[in-house]
Order: sequence, then C-alpha cells, then structure tokens
Amino acid sequence: MKHLIDLNDLTVEEIESLFTLAAKLKKELKAGITHHLLKGKTLGMIFSKSSTRTRVSFEVGMYQLGGYPIFLSSSDIQLGRGETIHDTAKVLSHYIDGIMIRTFKQDDVLDLARFGTIPVINGLTDLMHPCQILSDLFTVYEKKGKLKGLKLAYVGDGNNVANSLLQGCAITGMDICVASPAGYECNATIIEQAKHHARKSGSKVVLTEDPEEAMKDADVVYTDTWISMGQEAEKELRLKIFMPYQVNSKLFSLAKEDAIFLHCLPAYRGYEVTEDIIDGPNSDVFEEAENRLHMQKAIMVTLMG
Ligand code: CP
Ligand code: NVA
Repeated sequence: MKHLIDLNDLTVEEIESLFTLAAKLKKELKAGITHHLLKGKTLGMIFSKSSTRTRVSFEVGMYQLGGYPIFLSSSDIQLGRGETIHDTAKVLSHYIDGIMIRTFKQDDVLDLARFGTIPVINGLTDLMHPCQILSDLFTVYEKKGKLKGLKLAYVGDGNNVANSLLQGCAITGMDICVASPAGYECNATIIEQAKHHARKSGSKVVLTEDPEEAMKDADVVYTDTWISMGQEAEKELRLKIFMPYQVNSKLFSLAKEDAIFLHCLPAYRGYEVTEDIIDGPNSDVFEEAENRLHMQKAIMVTLMG
C-alpha cells in the first residue's frame, strides 16, 4: 500500500491486516501502552470541507503515535487562492511525510499522489470515503466476528459513503443491498467494480429502489445524510424524495433481530434515521466513531511507518 485513495486498490489481505493492526492499537491504547511508531513524522491535513471525526481522529492519532499533525484549511493555504495541486504536492513533499485530504473532486486527490512523492490519504471526496468504510467494516467484524456471509443494507442516498461501502463489502465478501431512489443511485463505474469483486469473493451486490427489499434479513443496517456537503441548495427537494427511505422502527423491524445500526455521522435525527433507532439498543454508531481513531492510526502506520 502506497496511498489510501480508493478501496478498489486494496486486496482483502491488505484490509485484514489493517483490521489486525487497528485491533492491536485499540487494545494497547486501552491498556495504557504507548507506541511512538511515527516519532518525528508529520502529517499535513488539507480540509476543503467541514469535519469533526476525521480531523480529530487523524490529529489525535498522529499525536498518540508520536508524530505531528498540521491542520491546513484550504481557505488559509494558497491552494484556496488558485495555487495548483501540482505545485502544492511538489512543495509539501519536501516538508512533510504524508498528506490527508478532504475535498470535492476525486481527481484532486489522485493528482496529489501523482505529483507528490509522499503517501496520500483520501479523507472524503464527493465520490468516496474509504477511511470511513474501513472503520465501519472493522466495527462489524468486532461485533459479528466475521464479514463473509453477512448482509449489509444501505438505505438512502447513493453517495460517497454508499460507493465505498459497495467496494468494501464486495472485496471482503459481505453481501450488500443498496436501496436508493431513481436518480440518486451509486456511481455506475463503482457498481461495476463492486460486481467484479463480488464474483471473486462470492458475495452479492444488489441495487434496488425498494428499501424493504434491502432491509430484509440484514445483519447490518446503514444510512447516511440525505444532503451531503456541497448539496445544501437541493435540501428541500431531497427531503421529499428521500422520506420513504427513512430508517425507522417499521423499516428496521424487517432486518434480523440482532441487526446492528451504523451511520458514519453526522446524523440528522428525524430525517434519514429516527431517534429511537440511532439511540436504541441496536445502534453502534458511537463505537463506530471511536474506531475511526484506531483505524486512522493503522492506516498512518501502514503508509508512513
Ligand atoms: N464521518 C465523518 O467523516 O465525520 P466528519 O465529517 O465529522 O469527519
Ligand atoms: N455523505 C456525507 C458524509 C459526511 C461524513 C457528506 O459527504 O457530507
């Protein structure tokens, strides 16, 4: 692994070794064992969009590993005033040991990796959210003891999170059924990639408009906001279109009795999920969020250690 940009670039073995490392780092942290595996290393974190979890988990993770994180808001650095990705990548490669970037265009992340000489981590684009999905699958693995043979139901917008879930589930052998309204489906290229991986891993990839079909017998139920960052102007229309996709007790009752509920957060209670579900006994959203820290550390150690 040179970069973490797109889950499609990872093998199931690479994902499993990230799980093993994240589990070890999690256990050791809780036991009070420190490990300065990135002593003397610096991570630059470019943000063109808001963040709570991604920023704090990378920043604290770097600190815990003995390294130094630098928060670079794109409105403060010259990138926001028109300096190119090319020049930014060349310059930063001489100062720091890795770049985490959250931005709009996937191509900008690819260009950072192409023109720079240091590892690049995709902290979310309009197309993908790979670090999130690695933490999510790690959470499922912790809760259920396996991934292969489980069914994940994703109900809602076919967005960046849904795209990366399609890839992650198909690579690791989990069945995935995505229910989204017409016109809001996952990315067509990613669907094809996922189907290709599913043929190898033996999992099923199903796309539907019917949320009930997705939920039937699901082991894991997942949803995300209906209005992603950058889509604020579409709010009114989206709220109407997505209402039948709300994860509420009626819909959740179609999943298996021991199904867990996940959400990448931030959540909007009363829209994509009701309070009784996200704050209910089947919800593991806060442990999922905690796992962002352990997984980011595993990713950084793997790429920068
Ligand atoms: N899930 C997630 O990426 O959260 P933030 O936007 O707070 O980083
Ligand atoms: N789909 C959401 C995820 C936020 C973590 C967004 O892109 O805004």
